[in-house]
Amino acid sequence: MTTTRKPKAKDTIKAAKPAELEIDVLSADITGIETPALVVNLFKGVKQPGGATGAVDQALDGIITRLIAEGEIKGNAGETTLIHTMGKIKPSRVLVAGLGPEDKFDAQVVRRVSAEVVRFLRRKGISKAATIAHGAGIGGLDPEESGQAIAEGAHLGLYRFGHYLTKNGDSSTEFEKLTVVELDEARAKAIKTGVLLGSATALATIIARDMVNEPANHMTPSRMAEAAQKVAKDQGFEILVLDNPEMKMMGMGAFMGVAQGTDEPAKLIVMRYDGDPGNPENNLGLIGKGITFDTGGISLKPPGGMEAMKGDMAGGASVIAAMQVIGQTKPKINVLAVIAATENMPGSSAQRPGDVVRAMNGKTIEVINTDAEGRLVLADALCYAREQGITRLVDVATLTGAMVTTLGKACTGVMGNDNKLVQQTIDAGKKTGERFWELPMFDEYKDLIKSDVADMKNSGGRQAGSISAALLLAEFVDGAAWVHLDIAGTSTSDRASGYLVKGATGVPVRTLAQLAMDLAAEGAPKKSGSKTKAG
Ligand code: BES
Ligand code: MN
Ligand code: ZN
Repeated sequence: MTTTRKPKAKDTIKAAKPAELEIDVLSADITGIETPALVVNLFKGVKQPGGATGAVDQALDGIITRLIAEGEIKGNAGETTLIHTMGKIKPSRVLVAGLGPEDKFDAQVVRRVSAEVVRFLRRKGISKAATIAHGAGIGGLDPEESGQAIAEGAHLGLYRFGHYLTKNGDSSTEFEKLTVVELDEARAKAIKTGVLLGSATALATIIARDMVNEPANHMTPSRMAEAAQKVAKDQGFEILVLDNPEMKMMGMGAFMGVAQGTDEPAKLIVMRYDGDPGNPENNLGLIGKGITFDTGGISLKPPGGMEAMKGDMAGGASVIAAMQVIGQTKPKINVLAVIAATENMPGSSAQRPGDVVRAMNGKTIEVINTDAEGRLVLADALCYAREQGITRLVDVATLTGAMVTTLGKACTGVMGNDNKLVQQTIDAGKKTGERFWELPMFDEYKDLIKSDVADMKNSGGRQAGSISAALLLAEFVDGAAWVHLDIAGTSTSDRASGYLVKGATGVPVRTLAQLAMDLAAEGAPKKSGSKTKAG
C-alpha cells in the first residue's frame, strides 16, 4: 500500500528570497538629494577632483581633497571611503569609490566598482544610496553603457544563494534601492535605457547562478526542464522536452548511454526563438551540457570535492538563461537552444568502460572512461540541432578538468572550426567583460581519440585534455560553423571579487545574449556555394 505523506513545512523550504534590488534614474542635482549615501568617484592619482566629485568636495569644504593629500584616498579600483557630511549637504554620507587608473578604465571597471560599492554599503547596514553614473563624464563611456554596467555590477554583486539557510545566515540588511543621478535629462534617459538592459542581463545571469548553486537532489533534469518552461512561457517561446523513450527511438545512443546509469529521467530540452522567421538560414544554435550531477559513473570520481559536480549543468543553465535575455531584447535571428540533461550515475545498468555507443548521426564511440560523459551527451545534442537545420552552433559545457589546469578561472577556453564565429564570440565577450581565450585544434591532436574498435574513443588520455574533448565534438557538427566554450573553470568562483561572488558565476549568459545580438545586427550569413563566393 502506498500512503501519500503530507509534505511537512521542512520539505518545502520556501526560500526567504531576498527582495530584488530596485534601480531608478533621477534627473537632479546630486548635492541636493536626500539619501543615506551618495556615491561619487575618483581616478587613481587625481589630486584635485573635478566634475560631480569636485562639486561635492567643494560643498564639503575640501574634505575629499584633504583625504587625498593625506593618502587616505588613493583612487585604486574597488577602494571605498565613507565620509559623514554632518548636515553640510543633503546626503547624509558620501562614499568615494576608486576607479583605478584612467587608462585602464572601461565598462568592466564600472561593473566591478558598482558591485564593490553596494556590497560595502550592505555590510554597513545601509540599504539605499544614490550614485553618479561612473565613467559617463571624463571616463569616456556612453551614458547608456555606464547605466548598464552599474546595473549589472549592482545586481550581480549583491547576489546571495540563501535558499536553504533557515536561520537568516547572513544577518546583514538587504541593500534595496540604488538611484542613479544625472542632471541632464537626455543623458538621464540614456542611462535609464542602459539600466533596464543591464538589469535584464543580470537577472537572467542570476537564473543561471541559482540553477548551478541549487543542489543536485533539487536541480534534477526535470527541474531544469521546468526552469526552461518558465523562461519559455514568460517570453512566449516554443518549447519541447524529449524523454528517454523518444530519444532512444531517435538514435541518441551516446546521450542514452550516459542516462542509463540513473533512475532519474533524462531530458532533452529544446527551446525555439523565431526572430527572423522569413530567413531560416539566419540562425544560431546554443547547445548546453546539463549533467545535473557527475559522479563519473563506473569510472567513479574520487570523493574529495565531488560535491562541486552539482554544477556540471552550468552550460545548460547558461543557455536557458541566455534565452530569457534573447526573448527580452528580440534580436532579428532564429535561436534554437538544446540542453542535454541527465545525471551521470554508476547505477546497476550504467554503461561500462569499453562499451561502444552510436550517436544520432550513426558515428560510433568507444567509451574508455564513463567520466568523459559531457562530450557523449553533447554529441547527440549537436546532431539534433543539425537535424533541425542549424548552421551556426555554440556549445557551452563544463567539459574538462584540464581546462581548469590550463586557464584557471580568469577566462573561458574557446575552440572551434570557424575563425569568424570564434572571433565574434571573443568580441562579444569584450563587450560583456567575460573573457575568452582560444586554444588550437591542430589535426595532429586527432590521433589522441583514435579507437581500434569504433570511429573514435571518448578519452584521449592525459595529453591536451580540453582539445581532444573538443575534437570529439567536432565530429558531430557536420560542416556547420561551430564554437565550443569550455567553462569548467569560469562557471564558478572561489571567492567574492567584483561582481562575482563565491559559487556560480553565470558565465557566459551575457556573452551568449550579446553574440545573438551581434549576429542579428550583422544580418543573415551568405549561403556557402552562392555566386558571390570569392574565387
Ligand atoms: N564535469 C567534468 C569536468 C570538470 C572537472 C568540470 C572539474 C568542472 C570541474 C567532466 O565530465 C569530466 O569528468 N571530465 C574528465 C574527462 C576525462 C575522464 C577524459 C576530466 O576532466 O577529468
Ligand atoms: Mn565527468
Ligand atoms: Zn561532467
